[in-house]
Amino acid sequence: MLTVNTVKELKSAVKSAREAGKSIGLVPTMGALHEGHKSLVDRCRKENDVVVVSVFVNPTQFNNKEDLRTYPRTEEADKALLEAAGCDVVFMPSVEEVYPEPDTRVFNLGPVAEVMEGPMRPGHFNGVAQIVSKLFMMVEPDRAYFGEKDFQQIAVIREMVRQEGFKLQIVPCPIVREADGLAKSSRNVRLTPENRAVAPNIYRLLNESLDFAKSHTVDETIKFVTTGINAYDAMEVEYYQIVDGITMQPISAWTDTRYAVGCITVYCGDVRLIDNITYFKE
Ligand code: PAJ
Repeated sequence: MLTVNTVKELKSAVKSAREAGKSIGLVPTMGALHEGHKSLVDRCRKENDVVVVSVFVNPTQFNNKEDLRTYPRTEEADKALLEAAGCDVVFMPSVEEVYPEPDTRVFNLGPVAEVMEGPMRPGHFNGVAQIVSKLFMMVEPDRAYFGEKDFQQIAVIREMVRQEGFKLQIVPCPIVREADGLAKSSRNVRLTPENRAVAPNIYRLLNESLDFAKSHTVDETIKFVTTGINAYDAMEVEYYQIVDGITMQPISAWTDTRYAVGCITVYCGDVRLIDNITYFKE
């Protein structure tokens, strides 16, 4: 595995691969890698000749300074995981390398970015579009892999790709969970032991709501999940919305869509957890 820290080295590594007629897969990450990230790398390994993984805590997508400051950084462990997963090139740049001057680009990402995480985290998706578009320009991958844990992020990236005209395939990958159901996340290490113990109830309620939904309305289902989670002292639902899985727009009746996904964010203590569940996909 080749570790590169500069854009120049990254470009030269992919250039020689491309000239040899090889397909290139990219997995963008912010490090603190776990089994969720590894599932993306595994899929990328299966489908491409060359696997490139970026590890970069992108400051422009953090709308909360404290979250950026305390974001876990585990460079050596990340390299070991990537090496074992068969990654070919890992890109670990400094902030100055990626942003030699401030990125002033403002993306108009439209309706997919105007709901849920959009208003809750102002500037977040613009920062995601900035870094992901830069990575796509640097690597020019044939395929790029993203986790469905950040469900809305995939829709936003698809929109950015459409607008910018990138010729690549976006590959969505299923959520990887802990044995007790909690979606794996780099932020889980910040949970206190007590809060870690109640956090699996998020997925429990989402999962139980699949059955509940069969005989209840969208609003009743939202209430079922929200009140169920809020019943735990340590947890507070920030939002729970049931949306169309493509447009991200909230639905008011099950018949409004052929692909219904419930997207949730919950404060568990002061850690913001995100998860989602698919009710149906026709
Ligand atoms: P990060 O949170 O490190 O996640 C990198 C990728 O791993 C994302 O596509 C995310 O959805 C996926 N992922 C994280 N946890 C997962 C899980 N439990 N199961 C499946 N996939 C999971 O998302 C970002 O970084 C950044 O916004 C990034 C796209 C890298 C841009 O900076």
